[in-house]
Amino acid sequence: MHYGFLSTQEADAFMPSCEEYVAVACVLISVAVLCWYARDAYRLDDLHAKHVLITGCDSGFGNLLARQLDRKDVNVIAACLTDAGAAELAAASSRRLRTVVLNVTDGESIRRAVQFVSAEVGDRGLWGLVNNAGCLGPLGPIDWLQLEDFSAALDVNLMGMIGVTLQFLPLLKVARGRVVNVSSIMGRLSFISGGYCISKCGVQSFSDSLRLDMRHFGMKVSIIEPGGFKTAVTRMDLIEKDVKRLWDRLPQDIRDTYGPKYVDDYLRYQAFTLNIVRNSDLSKVTNCMEHALTAQYPRARYGAGWDAKLFWIPLSYFPTCVGDLICGRLFPAPKAV
Ligand SMILES: *[C@@H]1O[C@H](CO)[C@@H](O)[C@H](O)[C@H]1NC(C)=O
Ligand SMILES: *[C@@H]1O[C@H](CO)[C@@H](O)[C@H](O)[C@H]1NC(C)=O
Repeated sequence: MHYGFLSTQEADAFMPSCEEYVAVACVLISVAVLCWYARDAYRLDDLHAKHVLITGCDSGFGNLLARQLDRKDVNVIAACLTDAGAAELAAASSRRLRTVVLNVTDGESIRRAVQFVSAEVGDRGLWGLVNNAGCLGPLGPIDWLQLEDFSAALDVNLMGMIGVTLQFLPLLKVARGRVVNVSSIMGRLSFISGGYCISKCGVQSFSDSLRLDMRHFGMKVSIIEPGGFKTAVTRMDLIEKDVKRLWDRLPQDIRDTYGPKYVDDYLRYQAFTLNIVRNSDLSKVTNCMEHALTAQYPRARYGAGWDAKLFWIPLSYFPTCVGDLICGRLFPAPKAV
């Protein structure tokens, strides 16, 4: 086009209008979204030849995922903490599903599980490892806690996961397999003190470095970030018992800085938030796990639950002062006597 031959008005007629720019942008975005969904929908077709190990199958997400994948002909090896949990799950699933007792904080127990799994998978290797075992540990304002209170969650959620992953890496490398780690929105926003948020933040960081290191071996790493779900981890009666235990243990001078009614207010606030965000449909999480294990192109991160997708994860991208403003409202302020 030679503008030299045209008047300014004639040239304007060839320039796209603002509406045209918007229309083109909309079309491009729609095409991108469609391609993304299409890519997401590609599934692997040889699931019956693949083995997946899931930790923490006694209850909750692990238990549901084990039964879900079992129905899809995946060879599931379900690791449970207790014999009773293992027996119950075995009774509720096909003969293909194997159970193994595994305590993720005990190196010897992990070694026995590795032997069991390597005999099961033979030279095919392990296709998937789902690090799901988790616990909450004591939670409360930070000056109610002692160093040991942090260990429960850190030992199981973080060190346990690292221990399991390290020992199973050789089998995973053989299969060019996948690791799925269960983190939490609390790995992004630390709105409750105690070991739990720290452990989940560690899971995010460890998984990100594992993804980068292991991509050279064809392995894929996904992180699931559930919001609030009804599992053993969010049972209000257990949380209440534990918070009361911490409060009763406190020296009087610290209690005085909070005021006598604080512990009840604290529990009331916590129950209120949990009631709003506690999804009871655990399949929202296990469907993400299933996608991470069975899709041709698994995602690096999956948010699970409306509260995670629409609220917590977006909030984590805001400046810290915005997060503090909102998370700071989740618990009452101390009223010193
Ligand atoms: C798991 O192993 C740890 C460390 O050996 C031990 O302290 C804990 O009691 C074990 N838990 C169960 C349920 O066996
Ligand atoms: C999962 O987390 C554990 C410990 O945080 C780590 O060892 C492992 O590499 C992670 N794996 C994935 C797939 O994120």
